[in-house]
Amino acid sequence: MKLVRLLANLGYGSRKQVAGLIAQGWVTGPDGQPLSADARVPHADIRLDGEPLDPAPGMVIAMNKPVGYTCSLRDAGRLVFDLLPPRFRLRKPALSSIGRLDRDTSGLLLFTDDGQRLHRIISPRSAIAKTYRVGLAEDLRGHEAELFAAGELLLEGETRALLPARLQVQSPRSALLTISEGRYHQVRRMFAATGNAVATLERIAIGGLELSALALEPGQWRLLDADQIDTVFQAPVA
Ligand code: URA
Repeated sequence: MKLVRLLANLGYGSRKQVAGLIAQGWVTGPDGQPLSADARVPHADIRLDGEPLDPAPGMVIAMNKPVGYTCSLRDAGRLVFDLLPPRFRLRKPALSSIGRLDRDTSGLLLFTDDGQRLHRIISPRSAIAKTYRVGLAEDLRGHEAELFAAGELLLEGETRALLPARLQVQSPRSALLTISEGRYHQVRRMFAATGNAVATLERIAIGGLELSALALEPGQWRLLDADQIDTVFQAPVA
């Protein structure tokens, strides 16, 4: 792909703007030599103002989403995209979150610009496990693990029972819950069905990819390498 298009697709500016950057010599090879507008250079060899370019299309990003941010491109209030470089919103192909977390849910959130990969991860057929740390408003009653594991729980307003889910109780008001589907407000509605309420909710793993292994503070994000992406398709660690 020609340099102008490549840079414009990464969100560095309109074609006219990036053509200007190239003409002014801001875009160089690794040796610092300015590149011409029609240069075809490997992505990894291009520098803009001396810095390597943003990742090439096909990327997967992991974020530790803080509470209070919405998974949307346009919405009132703070958006998860506000935590990424502004030019990421302008990328082509577009970057989108892989599934969503509620505004009041924190934890592991993935983004990709690879439509096939996005589909593979969110497809019900992949049944990728998602693990949540749940803080409850009231003590667990004691029957929840069995109820969730049975695969017979019908959420309010639905006609199809949930798939079996695994609850690991940690204390009277906290537990880990692993589910392999992603229905609307699923975790909150599962506990509502037991007469309890979720007070805090954090996603701590997607498949075998654990948030703790990524060393991300709330609001931070990182690009995943191929091995890390593979772990998404593996079983949860514990
Ligand atoms: N279940 C919920 O209720 N909320 C989330 O954000 C994720 C799963």
